[in-house]
Amino acid sequence: MTSIKCVKLFAYLLVCLGIVNGNGLGVVFEWKELDFAYPNSSARQAALESKSFIPSNNVPVGLEVWKNKLFITVPRWKPGVPASLSYVDLNQAGRTSPQLKPYPDWSTHDVNSVASRVIDRRNITHIVSPFRIRADSCDRLWVLDTGKSDILGSEEKIGPNQLLVYNLENDELVRRYEIPKKFTKDESFFANIAVDVRNKDCEDTFAYMADLGASSMVVYSLKKNESWRVTHKYFYNDPKAGKYHVAGVSFEWTDGLFGLALSAEDSEDRYRTMYFHPFSSFSEFAVSTRILQNQTLWTDPALAGASDKNFMLLGERENNTQSCASFFDEKTGILLYTQVTRNAIGCWNSGQKYTPMTQGQVAANNVTMVFPNDIKVDSQRNVWVLTDRMPLFMFKGLDRSDVNFRVLSAPIDRAVADTVCMRSSAVVLSPLGFIFVISVIHRQFA
Ligand SMILES: *[C@@H]1O[C@H](CO)[C@@H](O)[C@H](O)[C@H]1NC(C)=O
Ligand SMILES: *[C@@H]1O[C@H](CO)[C@@H](O)[C@H](O)[C@H]1NC(C)=O
Ligand SMILES: *[C@@H]1O[C@H](CO)[C@@H](O)[C@H](O)[C@H]1NC(C)=O
Ligand SMILES: *[C@@H]1O[C@H](CO)[C@@H](O)[C@H](O)[C@H]1NC(C)=O
Ligand SMILES: *[C@@H]1O[C@H](CO)[C@@H](O)[C@H](O)[C@H]1NC(C)=O
Ligand SMILES: *[C@@H]1O[C@H](CO)[C@@H](O)[C@H](O)[C@H]1NC(C)=O
Repeated sequence: MTSIKCVKLFAYLLVCLGIVNGNGLGVVFEWKELDFAYPNSSARQAALESKSFIPSNNVPVGLEVWKNKLFITVPRWKPGVPASLSYVDLNQAGRTSPQLKPYPDWSTHDVNSVASRVIDRRNITHIVSPFRIRADSCDRLWVLDTGKSDILGSEEKIGPNQLLVYNLENDELVRRYEIPKKFTKDESFFANIAVDVRNKDCEDTFAYMADLGASSMVVYSLKKNESWRVTHKYFYNDPKAGKYHVAGVSFEWTDGLFGLALSAEDSEDRYRTMYFHPFSSFSEFAVSTRILQNQTLWTDPALAGASDKNFMLLGERENNTQSCASFFDEKTGILLYTQVTRNAIGCWNSGQKYTPMTQGQVAANNVTMVFPNDIKVDSQRNVWVLTDRMPLFMFKGLDRSDVNFRVLSAPIDRAVADTVCMRSSAVVLSPLGFIFVISVIHRQFA
């Protein structure tokens, strides 16, 4: 009896909180087209004339924030991308459509100057096409580069799948690691990365790299300078979740493993929980980093399949809630994730069961949030979201007179305040819900 009332009460709260939910994120930057900070206007003009810069072919995908730098990746979808990793100075106030500054410098992005079009790997480091990047608590930027150029055209592999680690304090490259060929397949596509600094020891850091094409993961140990390939059936897409509708465009994607989000370290075993999901899927999964970090488990044939049971299905969301990037906020225990077909950011409190009912919506907007592609929470606990209308660019073409790309932000505590993800405060935050609770209690005891 009581439990039914609780469910009803809960459902009521969901509905009434849904009304309160507005667009919880504010637009910080917006662009009709991207532009880059060339050394001077004649250099920019020359780049336009030589078509090394074709503005309409530049679409941002990933973002990260470290101190005053907002990093943005611009993969080489088509020709004319002058720099695939760049940043905006957040201290330069007053500009809503700032020019992007190449990171760490222009020459690292000068892939066209390579005579053979195949980069000399041993000598000069180039960044070709990173999708996602991650700044860690040791002030390093981890750049996961697919090495691919003209991705929507001839898809040339002009560089290796590589991991670059920069010291953000002086912009020096501190590690460069090529993902061994034996861990990749023809369809491999490394589009997302999570970074795990163990027990505050900057040397003892792991990178988890999601291969959405081959539905697998490559784990890299900075200390060992070695990697291994992790596979599991939960890394595959769900064929029933392949249909997408975004801003009037319908398409089908079969992308596997994508969202990777790390919890805080367990106070006892010092391992984290990795929450993960394939892109074309409505399910969320979890595994301990104890399993991912155990190299023997993934290299000793005698142990094949031994850890399968350590991967957990947490639950399912509603239909049409495909999600690419996700981020776990250690303080609240809330998992934030993009809802690409709803132009929204969803949330789930890891203290609750994973069901459609426990999914909240942090923000939604059919104009400013079309295709939320990346989400991060910075060290000051601000949420950052990049929205980019990517399917329109890929399948229909962008309207260059309209604003197409936006960076939105809000303090996380404010963003999640009115959602079902803030369990304990939900009743307090909703006056209607509060009145309802009072009336239920009144009726129970009357
Ligand atoms: C513009 O920048 C380019 C590249 O740094 C440089 O070679 C050129 O001399 C500069 N031109 C002017 C007019 O400053
Ligand atoms: C690297 O390139 C520089 C010039 O760009 C050349 O002088 C040097 O010999 C090269 N080193 C190797 C190991 O190929
Ligand atoms: C890491 O390993 C790669 C080969 O797997 C090697 O080329 C590179 O020099 C190593 N880096 C360090 C810092 O040991
Ligand atoms: C790795 O897994 C194997 C098999 O379960 C286990 O015997 C071993 O102790 C684990 N290693 C570590 C470092 O946890
Ligand atoms: C989700 O979609 C499947 C098939 O596409 C359908 O059978 C099912 O009823 C849908 N579920 C909900 C809750 O709409
Ligand atoms: C966006 O559009 C869809 C479909 O028209 C609608 O169901 C949804 O409520 C809209 N969302 C917002 C935040 O306006």
